Amino acid sequence: MLGISAGIAAYKIPSLVRLLKKEGASVRVILTPDAHAFVTPLTLSVLSQEAVLSSFVSEDTDNPVWNDHVALGNWADLMLIAPATANSLSAMAHAKCNNFLIATYLSARCPVMIAPAMDLDMYAHSANQKNIETLETYGNIVLPVGDGALASGLEGKGRMLEPQEILEHTIHHFYSQQPLLGKKVLITAGPTYEPIDPVRFIGNFSSGKMGYALAHQAADLGAEVHLILGPHSLDTDEAPFTIEEINTADEMHAAVFNRYHMMDFAIAAAAVADFKPRTLASQKIKKEIGTPAIELIPNPDILAQMGEQKKNQVLIGFALETENEVAHATNKLKRKNLDAIILNSLADAGAGFATDTNKITYIGKNEAPKSFSLKSKEEVAKDIWNEILT
Ligand code: CTP
Repeated sequence: MLGISAGIAAYKIPSLVRLLKKEGASVRVILTPDAHAFVTPLTLSVLSQEAVLSSFVSEDTDNPVWNDHVALGNWADLMLIAPATANSLSAMAHAKCNNFLIATYLSARCPVMIAPAMDLDMYAHSANQKNIETLETYGNIVLPVGDGALASGLEGKGRMLEPQEILEHTIHHFYSQQPLLGKKVLITAGPTYEPIDPVRFIGNFSSGKMGYALAHQAADLGAEVHLILGPHSLDTDEAPFTIEEINTADEMHAAVFNRYHMMDFAIAAAAVADFKPRTLASQKIKKEIGTPAIELIPNPDILAQMGEQKKNQVLIGFALETENEVAHATNKLKRKNLDAIILNSLADAGAGFATDTNKITYIGKNEAPKSFSLKSKEEVAKDIWNEILT
């Protein structure tokens, strides 16, 4: 979301729009009414390929349309205000909602980056500096100004940074939000189905939601993610990562060790069936033969083998326990050579399998267990990555 206020540097913003678009950004532009004198909405609309907004209502006498500044504020991943005049800085610092740009700024939930532009004495004025400090204390990123020729004919500090410099600050901002950039993450999720005959299997109630949320969060943090997912009914159409679907523990095992050696992080969130039938009946088992005895043999412990083969990977497991939870989980952490284990207790309502929520205790190697409240699995995934990365 690019906000333009009424300073002469506004004439440079079309080239900033071009640079942002070239980087793959979706750009929407808001102008203050006075900014129209410095740059045309049509130019900005052609370059951004979006409608450009300036007022709360799109003029149409028969059918006026309300421009929803709240939706715009929520749409953006970053709000960039360039140029930001002394007047706009003051309005932003004091919540003086006197135009559509300031209303959108006040509604925005995303980070805000501000490129001030004004004459040198205006910039240096204590009142203006105080506004900048105030805006910084509110969490806004205020960019420096350039030093050089000003529209007044004076020389000094107050020029808006050049579009290329603003672009670099923007790219840096997004990279700094992505601590997993360039990292490879492997996640197992969901149940495994161990076939008995062509129509029956041994399985469990795992939905795969926790592992899916962990994969999504890792991708949001910049990682290249590969999710190995057991049978599920998740909507994965929009997943920003690769998904490899498997059915059995043996298939999950093969998929994991195909790529484990290349990984920086691995999280085993799958509910792997510990046992499988020794033989797979080639035809459906019929009632007439009486109650069958199904002999079970153990499946490979995928996570334990990841622990044995661990080199530089950060390895995280899950533990679902019903009693002596912390002691059992800590034991599992040591036994499987993990860096951390995430404990779910079946004693907690809303935690564990087949729910949209979870309640976890994070136990890092050599760290005291840290318990979290009941949250959505998306929020839990954020907490887990926070812990892994601190
Ligand atoms: N796990 C695995 N392969 C298995 C069994 C479990 O990778 N065959 C992983 C799970 O994904 C989870 C962790 O091991 O991250 C703990 O699984 P859990 O079933 O709680 O522990 P177990 O090792 O099976 O021990 P127990 O059944 O005695 O609790």
